[in-house]
Amino acid sequence: MTILVVGSGGREHALVWRLAQSPASTKLYASPGNPGIARLAECIAPASPTPEGFLSVAETVGADLTVVGPEAPLVDGIVDLFRARGRRIVGPSAAAAQLEGSKIFAKEAMRRFGVPTAQYSCADNLGDALHALRRFPCPVVLKADGLAAGKGVCIARTREEAEQTARALMSGSLVGEAGRRLVIEEFLEGEEVSFIALTDGTHVVPLEPTQDHKAVFDGDQGPNTGGMGAYCDSRILTARQHDLILERVIYPVVEGMRREGRPFSGFLYAGLMMVEGEPKVLEFNVRLGDPETQALMHRMDDDLLPLLEGAAAGELRPGPIRWRTGPSVCVVLAAAGYPGTPRKGDPVFGIEEAESLGACVFHAGTRIENGRLVTSGGRVLGVTAAGADLSSAIANCYAAVSKIHFEGMHYRRDIGLKGLKRWPALE
Ligand code: AMP
Ligand code: GLY
Repeated sequence: MTILVVGSGGREHALVWRLAQSPASTKLYASPGNPGIARLAECIAPASPTPEGFLSVAETVGADLTVVGPEAPLVDGIVDLFRARGRRIVGPSAAAAQLEGSKIFAKEAMRRFGVPTAQYSCADNLGDALHALRRFPCPVVLKADGLAAGKGVCIARTREEAEQTARALMSGSLVGEAGRRLVIEEFLEGEEVSFIALTDGTHVVPLEPTQDHKAVFDGDQGPNTGGMGAYCDSRILTARQHDLILERVIYPVVEGMRREGRPFSGFLYAGLMMVEGEPKVLEFNVRLGDPETQALMHRMDDDLLPLLEGAAAGELRPGPIRWRTGPSVCVVLAAAGYPGTPRKGDPVFGIEEAESLGACVFHAGTRIENGRLVTSGGRVLGVTAAGADLSSAIANCYAAVSKIHFEGMHYRRDIGLKGLKRWPALE
């Protein structure tokens, strides 16, 4: 079986790593991939990072199954194109990917399907936005409608800041065209959880809950990033909360999208705020999370391939996935300047030492230059480790992190601590 993974980050490295352990006989390709992935799969750069570019790679290698990591090709219709050419692929159609491609679409879908979310208003001109802002107390949340690589959400503490942000978003100066329309919404307080389920449009297989750490500095301080670390631990949700999320969020969306003639298949990621123990949706993503996937794939104790094949074929077999009992933790090592413009080209040292301690070091922003591994993006590596309990998983992960070095490297030192604070007596 020939499998193609589309993408070049830590999420894709973790997917390839898990697929490489499938008992089935597989030949793995990634496009474009990265130097870490290249140890497990053949990496092929597409002529262009578009649905057509990736289709041409899939045709060249004869891919029997393609899995898409990032959102952009999904929103651009890669699944529609592959299906039209008779190629199996895991992911939603462009119409279903609007759940991530347009925050306004997502909010309206949630309203139609009765999914709990923050109160909101939509605006497509500055006058409406300023008017809508008056309806919400501060802090208030402003969201660019379109894809903005994690930079389209602003939390304004004061009325002046909110108005300034609305102006900046709508003028196009902050995130370009993505900000021409806005969602303005109520600020929610609670505990954030990433809940991801695999679906074929009808059947649903939930993955374990994870918790991301979006802010760049310890204690959730500083600007938001794509994610500075994540951990995966069943105790993030109680059994009741897990069921509530399926009943109030995941099933209504899967059923609603099918009923409306744009069935959703692939990974449905609900970014949730647990408010007084009950879920409210902050956002949907139409793909696996990064770095959540690194923690998830590390903890999964099952063959991923039949699940992906089932989702692509519309024959997903509902049933529990096997997971290791011990939690997993992923700490992201970021380059100087991230989440602003990252510095590139710094040599990376110590990955083998980190791996000799039992950690998996997933590559994200790396490349080979003159035979040496150097940094080439904001999130450089995702160091991932497990342990018998959360405190030992955290300790194992940071022990591996301490072996790695590159100029300007920075990372959070509190990944997983929220869990430890919640369950001190159990650890
Ligand atoms: P999103 O891209 O919608 O997940 O937003 C990015 C981050 O902004 C989330 O992970 C939250 O930390 C925060 N956020 C988004 N919406 C809200 C909200 N309504 N209330 C509080 N925080 C929010
Ligand atoms: N870690 C958040 C995301 O993948 O969008």
